[in-house]
Amino acid sequence: MNSVSYAFLDSAPVIPVIAIQKLEHAVPLAEALVAGGIVNLEVTLRTEHGLKAITLIRDQVKGANVGVGTVCNATEFDTAVDAGANFVVSPGQSDALFERALLTNIPLLPGAVTATEVMTAMEAGFNVLKFFPASTSGGAPAIKAFAGPFADLQFVPTGGVNLDNAGSYLSLSNVRAVGGSWLTPAAAIQNGQWEHITQLAREASQLGA
Ligand code: 3PG
Repeated sequence: MNSVSYAFLDSAPVIPVIAIQKLEHAVPLAEALVAGGIVNLEVTLRTEHGLKAITLIRDQVKGANVGVGTVCNATEFDTAVDAGANFVVSPGQSDALFERALLTNIPLLPGAVTATEVMTAMEAGFNVLKFFPASTSGGAPAIKAFAGPFADLQFVPTGGVNLDNAGSYLSLSNVRAVGGSWLTPAAAIQNGQWEHITQLAREASQLGA
């Protein structure tokens, strides 16, 4: 069984899914989010700057808890943790990822949207799962239905979650937090509108309160 703590998820209801297009954006973006109360930051490996951004945020942004997203294999898991990631999010799951996570003290959020995927992750020892892509996989009603057979599991839905529908997920007893990219609009980042991003973070940090 995975005995790693997922308590960090209680620090903020939303985990922004971040894709860094320019490395110089990493620190001011993270600072803007933290200033709005959003402290768990998922920096994805979707751009070439992901790993360096993780290190910069870890070293320079006080109050940030930086993690990594879009981790699809054990090598990516290792390189991201070496770069400074404190938690790991995967869109899916594999035995190699499970094994890697169980050998470390790093919390892994493996992806699952079907009962079978949920059971595979549970059997491997994971009981906090990413539910991705949430909106096309049944959304909040699907997660609510999982509360019956999988009473001990918690989900972090991501994919199609936004300010308008986040509340319907967060009101479920088996939703621990939600993830989404709506806090980090590409244009606002490109234009350095950090105040705007802090405002989006502030709104998000009040969700579920
Ligand atoms: C993810 O990786 O979790 C999603 O791509 C984020 O989905 P969103 O852009 O719909 O919020």
